[in-house]
Amino acid sequence: MKDLKGKTAYVSGAASGIGFGIASALAQAGANIAMIDIRADALTDARDRLHNLGVHIETFVSDVSDAAVLEETARAIDAAFGPIHIVCNNAGVSMLGEPLEDIALSDWNWVIDVNIKGVINGIRTFVPRLRRHGEGGHIVNTASIAGLQVNPNFRTGAYAMTKYAVVALSEALEQELDGTGIGVSVLCPAAVDTGIHLSARARPQRHGGPFVRSADHFMGDLIKEGLRPEQVGARVVQAIRDDEFYILTHSSPREWVERRFARIMQAFDRAEAFEKELGITPWRLDVTRTRAGG
Ligand SMILES: NC(=O)c1ccc[n+]([C@@H]2O[C@H](COP(=O)([O-])OP(=O)(O)OC[C@H]3O[C@@H](n4cnc5c(N)ncnc54)[C@H](O)[C@@H]3O)[C@@H](O)[C@H]2O)c1
Repeated sequence: MKDLKGKTAYVSGAASGIGFGIASALAQAGANIAMIDIRADALTDARDRLHNLGVHIETFVSDVSDAAVLEETARAIDAAFGPIHIVCNNAGVSMLGEPLEDIALSDWNWVIDVNIKGVINGIRTFVPRLRRHGEGGHIVNTASIAGLQVNPNFRTGAYAMTKYAVVALSEALEQELDGTGIGVSVLCPAAVDTGIHLSARARPQRHGGPFVRSADHFMGDLIKEGLRPEQVGARVVQAIRDDEFYILTHSSPREWVERRFARIMQAFDRAEAFEKELGITPWRLDVTRTRAGG
């Protein structure tokens, strides 16, 4: 999608960090912005910081983890802007520092509801709208570098699980939207200097209410040296224009991902040896016969 001028963009998690950076970069490219966040005051402050960019900007307090609430928000956006062309499913929360067996069920539900269901709800709510107007568009789902490997140093297994899910959802969405004029990207940043380490302080009541996580300061220290959200926003706009699927913002995690893939390839080598040992012909997928759903 080359020309973003006059198009409308939905950006969730727009009150802070990467979402604000994306909203700001899209507005600078001439797009009108529907800014969505669960935190009303922060959202108003964020909008005020973009007020002089000469585009139509409105804020919508919403919870991406609640499908019914998001549908209501989408109707309000339809009424305020007309057709939406760019959808950035970006809102997310952090979770780190605890072994999987110790994470409270309320925390599991919260991270799954926001990080996975938030993206699913965004897809279910907006993809039909984009298909309907037929003018094309672009969807950006924010995963993380944690969607491509599980870092052994951070105890981010639950968070990484949600981000692997966002990568898989995005890969599937790209396949399903092939030929529709709707592009898909999955954003996989490493450290970006945002408020993500403070997520738990704004956990909604329905997910157990606000709390302070003891490992939060560790995440805060880690991302302090990271990219600035505006830099990531500009990178996302470039990727939308160039129709890039994987958007990586840092090159240094390459070796983590290479290490993971090398282990998977070694497992294929063992599978080959196993097939030889059994004397069977390697099984080949017939993609034409296995294609489901037309
Ligand atoms: N900061 C990083 O280093 C980093 C790295 C990789 C991926 N990410 C991802 O980037 C995305 C944005 O995070 P960020 O780093 O800018 O953090 P952030 O906390 O600064 O911004 C996230 C925003 O999402 C909002 N939000 C949380 N739950 C919501 C909900 N249920 N509905 C609507 N809004 C909600 C928050 O209020 C906040 O304003 C997340 O998906 C995060 O997982 C961040």
